[in-house]
Amino acid sequence: MYRVAVITLSDSAYAGSRADLSGPVIVAAVEAAGYDVVHTAILPDEEAQLKSALISLCDGNQADLIFTTGGTGFSPRDRTPEATSAAIERPAPGIAEAMRYASLAITPRAMLSRATAGIRKGTLIVNLPGSPKAVQECLDYILPSLAHGLEILKGDTGNCAR
Ligand code: MTE
Repeated sequence: MYRVAVITLSDSAYAGSRADLSGPVIVAAVEAAGYDVVHTAILPDEEAQLKSALISLCDGNQADLIFTTGGTGFSPRDRTPEATSAAIERPAPGIAEAMRYASLAITPRAMLSRATAGIRKGTLIVNLPGSPKAVQECLDYILPSLAHGLEILKGDTGNCAR
């Protein structure tokens, strides 16, 4: 069972003036898919803070998969992709490409997400957009394929036949 960390990036949710609706959507979806949620956090849209949280989770081998939600858009405070790019060692661009591909069939505004994904040590980090609706739509598309990526990352299989 792979371990998942969920980090919500939102100044207002961090301040307590708005509820975090997207984090719980991720938790419910990954638990339904058989993952073990080991860590959740709400952080402000601060690049350095997110970068350091990602590095700490990866280098401490605390999670196999980290989902972030929020901060992927065009607001000046949206710095999630920058923090993620600064933390990862190996980009996995196909995951964000797949999310945008699937999401563009739902809304052309999917092009406005700057989400990225990549690997640091034995952990895969994936940015999701901020709205609960977008989170669900993206997870519906990528989640079935992520387990195989994690199997390869963890050396649990070398078989790509499926
Ligand atoms: N992707 C999906 N699947 N569904 C959506 O409704 N909304 C888009 C995009 N991706 C959306 C989506 C919009 S409107 C924006 S602005 C960007 O995600 C960035 O969102 P964020 O800044 O909350 O991360």
